[in-house]
Amino acid sequence: MFMARSIVAGNWKQNLEFYDASDLAGSLRVESFTSDEVVVCPPFPFIYDVSERLKDTGISLGAQDCSQYNGGAYTGEVSATMLKSLNVKYCILGHSERRQYFGDTSEILRVKFANARNAGLEVILCCGETLEVRKSGDHTAFVLRQLEEVMKDQDSQMLEDLVIAYEPIWAIGTGETASPEQAEEMHAAIRDFLKTKFGDPYAQDTPILYGGSVKPSNAAELFACKNIDGALVGGASLNALDFMQIASVS
Ligand code: 13P
Repeated sequence: MFMARSIVAGNWKQNLEFYDASDLAGSLRVESFTSDEVVVCPPFPFIYDVSERLKDTGISLGAQDCSQYNGGAYTGEVSATMLKSLNVKYCILGHSERRQYFGDTSEILRVKFANARNAGLEVILCCGETLEVRKSGDHTAFVLRQLEEVMKDQDSQMLEDLVIAYEPIWAIGTGETASPEQAEEMHAAIRDFLKTKFGDPYAQDTPILYGGSVKPSNAAELFACKNIDGALVGGASLNALDFMQIASVS
């Protein structure tokens, strides 16, 4: 019987300054964690220090994005190989904020995906619909299309170790969480999509995380859903106690 491991990942986004980030990383304690894996994704400049702070804690390191270019004269960019050399394990790709503000199209995401995998990073691939799309009733097809566009024609080695994060845009940073029913319905559809495309073992093995205003008060009811394997946490991951509490929900 296959079963996806549970993951709670914190996406710090463009928040904090160096010493705050260092303190936050240093105050994470793993003793009570019940989720199989805990990940933090700091802004790029803090990654080295956070990785030192997390040494021997068992907490994994993630990045929030990587470049579509592998190296060279691309001012301001950070490549997947650079991240790998900093002990980064995961790379978030396709976050709605990247799609919305930085022009990350499916075509660009396919290149980033390949770069991340070739560098040995595990991808947390984000998907999620706007409120407008949800109101139109087309949300499931929309989200599956987002996944299909990035995953199509990738060989099976590229798709190994994939983590998916469903983050409805209307629930990100708004305090409004998808109800467990709404989230579970989408997660089940994503699991079905993976099963149809890649087979049942792959579908059962792939963690599908929920993101969008996850906090200590709503994590338990979300994690109780059959197809929700954990969370990608934004705001609440900036508070060590809240984040640890979310990762300690059993
Ligand atoms: P919030 O938890 O702040 O809603 O952010 C969710 C998110 O975008 C995580 O990637």
